[in-house]
Amino acid sequence: MTIDSEEGDETPPARRRSRRYVPNLAEFYFRPQFDWTIEEAQASYEARQPPSSKVGIDCVYYEDCIEGMGRLPDGSIDLVIADPPFGIDFDGKSGAYNRDASLVVEGYEEVSESYDEFTKSWIREIPRVLKSDGSAFIFSGWTNLEPVLREVREAGLTTLNHIVWHYPFGVFTRRRFVTSHYHVIFLANNPQNYFFNKVEHYPEDVWAVKRKYRTREVKNSTKLPTDVVMRCIDFSSKPGDIVLDPFMGNGTTAVAAKCSWRHFIGFEINPELETVIDDELASVELGEAYIPYGERLPTIEQLAEKYPVAYREFLRREGER
Ligand SMILES: C[S@@+](CC[C@H](N)C(=O)[O-])C[C@H]1O[C@@H](n2cnc3c(N)ncnc32)[C@H](O)[C@@H]1O
Repeated sequence: MTIDSEEGDETPPARRRSRRYVPNLAEFYFRPQFDWTIEEAQASYEARQPPSSKVGIDCVYYEDCIEGMGRLPDGSIDLVIADPPFGIDFDGKSGAYNRDASLVVEGYEEVSESYDEFTKSWIREIPRVLKSDGSAFIFSGWTNLEPVLREVREAGLTTLNHIVWHYPFGVFTRRRFVTSHYHVIFLANNPQNYFFNKVEHYPEDVWAVKRKYRTREVKNSTKLPTDVVMRCIDFSSKPGDIVLDPFMGNGTTAVAAKCSWRHFIGFEINPELETVIDDELASVELGEAYIPYGERLPTIEQLAEKYPVAYREFLRREGER
């Protein structure tokens, strides 16, 4: 725009925006609500006592979880991570799952009783064993979701999120869509007071994490990725907390807990998995994956190195302050 004046034409200087848009800046300013140094995490871990003389911590008990959970005192668990059997006719070895049967441990236990009865009997123990501010994550395929949701409601637990875990791999199909997601139901005993550490600026309820196949490991073929279990631990527990997994399988929860200064208690009905779980646990060091949450976030210098144009002006202004 030009302005006519007695002195002649004058073009005003272009208006400078006082605040230039910088992408992802909110992420840079974000800080997790709770954080612990490595020393603090280790101290909390070492201070924690077992819930009773009958149940130790950092142990897997090879028995039916319904009996095992019965021995846990009221309010003794901070977080439950449960990945129950599917309740379908699945031997864990089927060629359709693109798995090498020679690497799969015998004895994947399906459910012999009615799936509804089985689901009721273990889910009703959760609100009792959980602390008043504790929470739970239950994994479920879509085929067995209905009884899980019903029993969760019956047990008086509150659903906080219905997370979809998307894994970009599914069983090949001809006349229907390929199933490539799991449901992860996030629950609290008390929706007004539960522990939640928002360790990311914008944590969405769709998690895209790949499953590993054909890794040449001997295992029970339903193994969850450690990254998925670690998300549950990071957001919903503190160092030193006790994480209960009623269906331990290959020991993924035990490994994730050990790596991050959390304790675990597990049940697994298939005793043949004991060597798998022991080997998995022996392969990691106590606390080895724990990094204080604030230190996991990108720094502005890292962002500027990656996106020099977008961040140059911002850094210049910061430097002038
Ligand atoms: C879906 S797998 C769990 C996989 C595990 N999340 C992992 O990452 O390896 C379910 C496990 O529950 C076990 N199981 C089945 N019924 C059980 C019961 N009543 N008590 C304890 N474990 C049981 C099965 O043997 C199987 O290993």
